[in-house]
Parts: sequence; C-alpha cells; structure tokens
Amino acid sequence: MKTTTYEKLTEIEKKLLDEAEKAMENSYSPYSNFFVGAAILTKDNKMITGTNVENAAYGNCICAERGAILRANAMGHRTYKAIAIIAKGKGFDTKQVTAPCGSCRQMLYESSQVSELDLKVIMSTTKKDKIIIASINELLPLAFGPKELEIDIKKYQK
Ligand code: THU
Repeated sequence: MKTTTYEKLTEIEKKLLDEAEKAMENSYSPYSNFFVGAAILTKDNKMITGTNVENAAYGNCICAERGAILRANAMGHRTYKAIAIIAKGKGFDTKQVTAPCGSCRQMLYESSQVSELDLKVIMSTTKKDKIIIASINELLPLAFGPKELEIDIKKYQK
C-alpha cells in the first residue's frame, strides 16, 4: 500500500482516474448524495466505468465498483489490471480517499482470481490531492474465493 500524488501516477493511471471522475458526474444518488465513480482497466487497456445507482428501496443500491464490474463483464471483459475510485459529497469534497466497501472488495477479489492478477486499487480524494494505491490482497487479506470451492476459475478468463 502506498500514498502518492496524481503527478506521480503513470499516464494510464491518470487517465483511468480521470475516467472515474467523469463517471462520478453520472452517479444516481438522490438518497445519500454521495457521488462515486469507478473505472476498470482491462488487460488490453480498455477503460470501463461505473457509478453508484441508488433506489428508494435502499437495499437495492449498487456501488460504482460493482457497477463497473457488471458493465465490463457484459462487454466481454473479465481480466482486469486496475480500478480507480473517486467520490464527492453534495457540497463537500472528500478529504480522505474513498475505499471500496466490503461487498465490492469481495467482488474485486473474485475478478482478481479470474484474472490471475493482484488487482491494483487506486483510491482518490475528490480533488486528487491524496491518492492511495493498494492491491486487492492488501484490502481483503485471507479472502474466501473460488479456490476454496476447488473451482478452476482461470478458464473463465476473457
Ligand atoms: N458507495 C460506492 O459506490 N462505492 C464505495 O466505495 C463506497 C460507497 C456508494 C453506495 C451508496 O450509493 C453511497 O456511496 C453511500 O454509501
């Protein structure tokens, strides 16, 4: 895990975070007023975004990260190198980076197992003045995954 700055990111990482920032503007979050954007980098360097989408029946709210995974899968991409996450509140900028919730970590872990890559998670404040980069294995140690079920998951790579 490392704390870094926007300037120190690689060009592709900067672009990924910028894509997440653009997606954040499309967040549908009338209940929490917390706008989250995510962007996945596929193994062939495609960028696929997601936002949180909320619902009056609160339990149906879906996070930006899982939204991005679902979109990427529907578009035929299942092998990911990185995900960038950024968020803002209504009327405030985040002072700490927004990290994926537990459910999203579990979904990202599954993706990393399919990908056979230790997925890089790039988390940013609204103003991009603080960025933390961690691997999914750092964010979800001792995870439960396909290997516990003895599933040969890599054959599902796409
Ligand atoms: N949320 C995300 O989309 N991703 C995160 O990493 C944290 C939380 C969403 C869920 C909900 O719509 C709102 O932010 C407040 O929890």
